[in-house]
Amino acid sequence: MAQQFSQERLRVRPSSREDAVVARAREYFERTLIQVGGKPVGSMAALKHPGRDGALNYDEVFLRDNVPVMLYLLLQGRHEIVRHFLEVCLDLQSSAYQTRGVFPTSFVEQDGKVLADYGQRSIGRITSVDASLWWPVLCWLYVRRSRDWEFGVSQKVQRGVQLLLDLVLHPTFEGTPVLFVPDCAFMIDRPMDVWGAPLEVEVLLFGCLRSCCQLMELAQKGNTSRLLDQRLLLTRAWQHDLRLFLLKHYWVTSKTLQVLRRRPTEQYGEHQYQNEFNVQPQVIPPWLQNWLEERGGYLIGNMRTGRPDFRFYSLGNALACLFGLVSAPQQRALFRLVLHNREHLMAQMPMRICHPPMEGDEWRDKTGSDPKNWPWSYHNGGHWPSLLWFLGGAILLHEQRHPSADVLLMGQMKAMLEECYWSQLNQLPRQQWAEYFDGPTGTWVGQQARTYQTWTIVGFLLLHHLLRVNPRDVTLLDINTP
Ligand code: GLC
Repeated sequence: MAQQFSQERLRVRPSSREDAVVARAREYFERTLIQVGGKPVGSMAALKHPGRDGALNYDEVFLRDNVPVMLYLLLQGRHEIVRHFLEVCLDLQSSAYQTRGVFPTSFVEQDGKVLADYGQRSIGRITSVDASLWWPVLCWLYVRRSRDWEFGVSQKVQRGVQLLLDLVLHPTFEGTPVLFVPDCAFMIDRPMDVWGAPLEVEVLLFGCLRSCCQLMELAQKGNTSRLLDQRLLLTRAWQHDLRLFLLKHYWVTSKTLQVLRRRPTEQYGEHQYQNEFNVQPQVIPPWLQNWLEERGGYLIGNMRTGRPDFRFYSLGNALACLFGLVSAPQQRALFRLVLHNREHLMAQMPMRICHPPMEGDEWRDKTGSDPKNWPWSYHNGGHWPSLLWFLGGAILLHEQRHPSADVLLMGQMKAMLEECYWSQLNQLPRQQWAEYFDGPTGTWVGQQARTYQTWTIVGFLLLHHLLRVNPRDVTLLDINTP
C-alpha cells in the first residue's frame, strides 16, 4: 500500500529545496510573533488576514494555535517568551462569577490594553474549553524543560491551577468523570454535532489533570498542606477514572464491535449491565467494517445516551497517544488504522480533521446548513496541515519509548510520515501555507482559508525539527515524565 502511494503521487518526492523552504518558513514564523507589554508573547493566528476592519480575529493570539508555537520556542530555548505567554494567560484567567477559572480563547493588545475573548465576541458566541485545558499542559512542559521550578511552585501558578480545577472537580448531575460541553467548544468551533463529551475535550482533560498533578507535586515537595494533599488525591483519582471511562466507552476494534453488535438493550438496574448507554446495534455505521480492518483500533468521537459518534477525529486520537491515555499496543492498533486508511486520512494534504464528513440532510440538520462546513470542507472532512505534527509526534515518541516493538509496522509508519512531510514541503510554499484544504483528496486550498496561517507554518517546522534536527527532542512532548 505504502509503496503504491509513493509511486503514484508525485507530491511526495524528496525535494532539493528543503533547506530553502525551511529557511523561508522560519522567516514567516518570526513575523507572526507579536507583543504584549512591550515583550513578545506569542503568535497571531495568520499573517495574511483582513485586519481589524474586516472584523475577524486572525491577528489575535489564540491559545490553541499557540500550542505548537510555544513548543517550538521551547525547543529553540526561547523560554522567556513562553513564560510571558503563560503569565499573560494567567492574568486573563476569568474571575467573573459564572466563568471563574476559564482561560480566554484569544487575546490581543489594543491601545495599551489587553483585550480577551472568552466567547463573548466570537462568531456564534461559542465557548472555548480547550484553551483552558491546554494551559496547565503548556505550563508543565515549560517548567520541566526550562527548569524554572520557581515559576512552577509560585503562588500565581498554583492558584491558577486550583481555580481551573474548581471548574472540573465538582459534583455534576450525571456523576461521570467526563466534562460536558456545548457544541463548538474546541478546535472544531462551528456546529458539527460535537456537544456532550467530545473526544478532543476529554483527552485534553486527561492531559490537563495529569499536568496539574505534576505541578501540584512540585509544590508539595516544598510545603506540606492538607488541602494540597487532598486536591492531589482527588485529581489523581479523577484522572484514573476518566481514563478507564474513555477506554471502556470510546475505544473500538474489530473485536469490540462484534460484542457491541450483540449486546442486549433496554437494561434497567445498577449491576450486571453490558450496555449502559442503551446503544442500539443499528447505529453502528457500515463503513466501520472496512475502516477498522482486522487489527486496527481507535477512540470514537463521542458517547451520548443511545448516540455514540463513530466519526474518527485525528487530533483527539493523536493526543491520546502523546498523553499516554491509550496503551502502547493500542497506539500501534491506531497506527495500523491510520496506515490502512491513509488514502482518506492523508490523501494529498495530511491530515484530515474528521472522517467521514456529514452530507445531505445530516449536514443541514447538524451544522445548521453551515456553508463553511460543506461536506469535505473545513471541519467537516477538510484537511488541516497543522494536524500532521501531532500524529508525527505520537509515532516518534512511541518509537523512542518502545524501540523494539513491531519494527515492521513502525518502519511503515516512519516511511508514511516522511512522505507526508515531503508532500507538505512540496506543496505548502506554493499554496501560501494555507489554513486548510478541501475536497475528498484535500487537493484544493480551502475556500475561505487564510494564508500564511501560523500553525500551518510552525507545525511544519516542528515536524522538521523532530525528523531532521533533533529526534530525541520528541520527549519534550511527554507529559508523564517528572
Ligand atoms: C478557526 C478555527 C480555530 C482556530 C482559529 C484561529 O476559528 O476553527 O480552530 O483556532 O480559526 O486560527
